[in-house]
Amino acid sequence: MIELQNVYKEYNNKDVKIEALKDINIKVEKGDIFGVIGFSGAGKSTLIRMVNALEKPSSGKVVVDGQDISDLTTKQLRGVRKQIGMVFQHFNLLNSKTVFDNVAISLKLNNLPRKQIQERVNELLKIVGLENKAQNYPDELSGGQKQRVGIARALATNPLILLCDEATSALDPQTTESILQLLKRINKEYNLTILIITHEMHVIKEICNRVAVMEKGEVIEQGTVLDVFGNPQEPTTINFVRTVINDKVPESVLGTVKRENQSRIFKLKFIGEKAKKPLISAISKQFDVGVNILFASVNELQGITLGKLTLEIEGAAKAIEQAYQFMLVQGVMVKEVYENDNYE
Ligand SMILES: Nc1ncnc2c1ncn2[C@@H]1O[C@H](COP(=O)(O)OP(=O)(O)OP(=O)(O)O)[C@@H](O)[C@H]1O
Ligand SMILES: [Mg+2]
Repeated sequence: MIELQNVYKEYNNKDVKIEALKDINIKVEKGDIFGVIGFSGAGKSTLIRMVNALEKPSSGKVVVDGQDISDLTTKQLRGVRKQIGMVFQHFNLLNSKTVFDNVAISLKLNNLPRKQIQERVNELLKIVGLENKAQNYPDELSGGQKQRVGIARALATNPLILLCDEATSALDPQTTESILQLLKRINKEYNLTILIITHEMHVIKEICNRVAVMEKGEVIEQGTVLDVFGNPQEPTTINFVRTVINDKVPESVLGTVKRENQSRIFKLKFIGEKAKKPLISAISKQFDVGVNILFASVNELQGITLGKLTLEIEGAAKAIEQAYQFMLVQGVMVKEVYENDNYE
């Protein structure tokens, strides 16, 4: 649905060259909720502006719905843009117009008959849960309600793609949650492809099925949310993942670890069905070892369970080794933590 191939973008400001995007390759399939995450200045907004052709790449290709949009005429671009809705961080509503008129803008521009506009706007306001706010003005709405208007407006022309640039960054956590649920519902009900840009990992965790991590103009890691969250590779990705999935053994617990007696420490990762296996009880029943849980967490990503566990196993060296070998063949990921490791 959206493909960026070797996209490179540079800006030249007073002889200073800024490489905003460097060799970007991403593919967003129909029906995806694709998240792009990165720190400020990573190039996220530049990337999204490539997709609705507000900017052209310095080199590389941008393909939207099978069409290379890098070299279209203004008229052709207008057609492509009709397929794309956009939601903004600060809503960008017209304060002098009612909710109804804000949502109706693009329909009026397309010269739709009055009755049709009326029907469509009412339908849209119903979708976003604002049917009783049609005659209110933006100033009379909460942030979450304003963003619902923004979403209704973006959906007015029945786009195939919805672009969201930090759509929830100005909202409190509870409102963020309700907007994310709305986006998820729209994605499912209308098979709408969503490209969402954020610096908050919980947005990705909550609704995306795929994610790309950007740093300094590059995509440093991408894949399914389960793969990237379950097995992050790059330090920036690891830090982002840690903001939503904690895997650090608390200091207070670390203080209780007695390295001098016979014990070894293991970090385990369980994905899917494997997370439900009674592994700890199996180890302590089958081997002559004691098991202390130093850390445990269970998260759900795209309906799949991701469990993390740090265990200290005590006993005779041979028994610990047997328990270790047993864990290795249980289909969970096991990594030993050595004395000088920092438990990360
Ligand atoms: N029109 C422009 N002219 C010159 N430089 C630009 C322009 N737009 C963006 N840049 C530069 O490109 C880089 C990427 O900017 P971009 O806005 O894409 O980052 P971002 O990831 O969206 O950041 P934020 O999270 O703060 O919104 C930055 O260094 C920025 O200064
Ligand atoms: Mg930005």
